[in-house]
Amino acid sequence: MITKHFFGSLEDGREIYSYMMKNANGMTVRICEFGGAIMEIRVPDRWGRMSDVVGGYDSLRDYVLGDGYLGALIGRVGNRICDGKYTLDGKEYTAFINNGKNSLHGGQVGFSHKIWSVKPIDGEEPRLVLTLVSPDGDEGYPGTLTVTVTYALLKSNALSIHYEATTDQRTIVNLTNHAYFNLGGYASGKVFDHVLQMDADRYLPTDDSLIPTGELRAVDGTPFDFREPKTIGRDFDMENPDIKIAGGFDHCFCFAGGETKEPVLRVEVYEPNSGRMMQVYTNQPAIQFYSGNFLNNPEHPLKGGYPQNLQALFCLETQKMPDSINHPNFDNIVLDPGEKYDYTTIYQFSVKN
Ligand code: BGC
Repeated sequence: MITKHFFGSLEDGREIYSYMMKNANGMTVRICEFGGAIMEIRVPDRWGRMSDVVGGYDSLRDYVLGDGYLGALIGRVGNRICDGKYTLDGKEYTAFINNGKNSLHGGQVGFSHKIWSVKPIDGEEPRLVLTLVSPDGDEGYPGTLTVTVTYALLKSNALSIHYEATTDQRTIVNLTNHAYFNLGGYASGKVFDHVLQMDADRYLPTDDSLIPTGELRAVDGTPFDFREPKTIGRDFDMENPDIKIAGGFDHCFCFAGGETKEPVLRVEVYEPNSGRMMQVYTNQPAIQFYSGNFLNNPEHPLKGGYPQNLQALFCLETQKMPDSINHPNFDNIVLDPGEKYDYTTIYQFSVKN
């Protein structure tokens, strides 16, 4: 079932709506036209009690002015581009600098701050088809990029996100979603007890502006080794230069074997108190695991007035490696006319006793 709700008006008077999808188990997912943001995901715990497991805001104003990209779709290029600069076919481009000396998450008005057009398709597995046309030169990126993101709420209590894009000129693209999770409920405190497992054998160390140095480092013997399940908190305070720079986990993890044809299970997170588990399936080659190290802006409290709190929510952003365009040994994020950008990420929810 899909229902449409008025959410708020922008300063110019445009009305913004949200869409609530619900499946037969009572799981709900609410998506906003503004930023295509996931505003709410309600899933049962091991006793069947529903909680909202993603961070979000109560007011449109916070989505417009807040700095955390809560739940938003990210584009054209997720994460940071060093100095906002890159070269494509011999031509230098400059993306908007909005994070120290770098460009972050698509620039000044990235996809997280655009109004998406939403087509609801109701049914047993309700879907929302979001589209956006990003004009040639938008935020310094070449080519008209036509983007479709389909959110589907599956019978199995999964949220599937299918990203598609085409261009009329050679360009770069690296899309993701910036949902912040806490499987105990978004207002349940720090996420250190969550048990995380990731099929990632390498990670990307960064400089102090969080730009990858170019090295793909083996996770062996580092706090970044999540190949066997361990709590997010276990190695959080370990003396480690990479953890220190980022104030926690804020790194790209590269999946063993890289990109796959179909989505495969890559990440599993379990919260022992509620019993909730989330599994991430994707065909993307990498994931940014961010432990909410900047999440403390008192001006933009979360839903219900709950304060932002460091490491009380985490992101698992499937994508290609950050700043790939400036590193020949990283992923290819170039999209050519006639080619289709086409990836799927599935967040599967369940419980474990
Ligand atoms: C980045 C963080 C950044 C955050 C913004 C994450 O994807 O890795 O460094 O602060 O987005 O909310």
